[in-house]
Amino acid sequence: MTIKDQRRLDDHYSRKARKEGYPARSVWKLEEFDRKYGLFKPGQKVLDLGCAPGGWTLYAAAKVGAGGLALGYDLALPKGQKFPAQVVLREADLAEIDSAEAVDLGPFDVVLSDMAPKTTGRREIDQALSLRLCLIAWDWARKSAKKGGFFLLKIFQSPDGDRFLKSLEPYFRKRTLLKPQATRKESQEIYFLGQAFAGPEAAAAYEFVF
Ligand SMILES: C[S@@+](CC[C@H](N)C(=O)[O-])C[C@H]1O[C@@H](n2cnc3c(N)ncnc32)[C@H](O)[C@@H]1O
Repeated sequence: MTIKDQRRLDDHYSRKARKEGYPARSVWKLEEFDRKYGLFKPGQKVLDLGCAPGGWTLYAAAKVGAGGLALGYDLALPKGQKFPAQVVLREADLAEIDSAEAVDLGPFDVVLSDMAPKTTGRREIDQALSLRLCLIAWDWARKSAKKGGFFLLKIFQSPDGDRFLKSLEPYFRKRTLLKPQATRKESQEIYFLGQAFAGPEAAAAYEFVF
């Protein structure tokens, strides 16, 4: 695909998001995963780590409906965006706070992390920053996800990142790496989808050794 084609596709996804009331084009990545894997059902609980500007939260909230819960955390919460009553948002640095609140409000049928670091443009550093966020997201997920649930995680690919993803193998019956259509071609990001989580008890002793 040429740069021009890529730009046209980016514009298409952004316009489509605005038209349908979503704050960002990232919603189409989640929509694609949901279409392929059936992530959400009415009445379910969803934990959304790194939720601003709120596209994934809005999508998940619509899918779980009024009887469900979409709990989102971000360093800075979206301003001026309206959310339905089943959405609960918290402003926090997930590296700094304990996951106890999420554990109390869970267990979650689906844990999402679209967290991304502030990139530096230096590949190895950005990969390490992304891996740090992935370790945090997994720490929250393994304590608060429901046995049998989904864990969807964004990661910048790297050798350490690959080792980390391998270390998750024992905790999911099925694991898939996904590159959604709405991802920019030059992006190093990829998504890990873990299906049928083994449960918090099984993952209690998890440790990642660098
Ligand atoms: C790509 S955006 C998420 C987009 C979101 N999925 C949507 O559809 O609107 C990544 C988010 O991760 C958040 N983030 C990065 N580090 C974080 C941290 N330590 N704690 C909480 N949120 C974090 C950023 O503030 C940013 O809003």
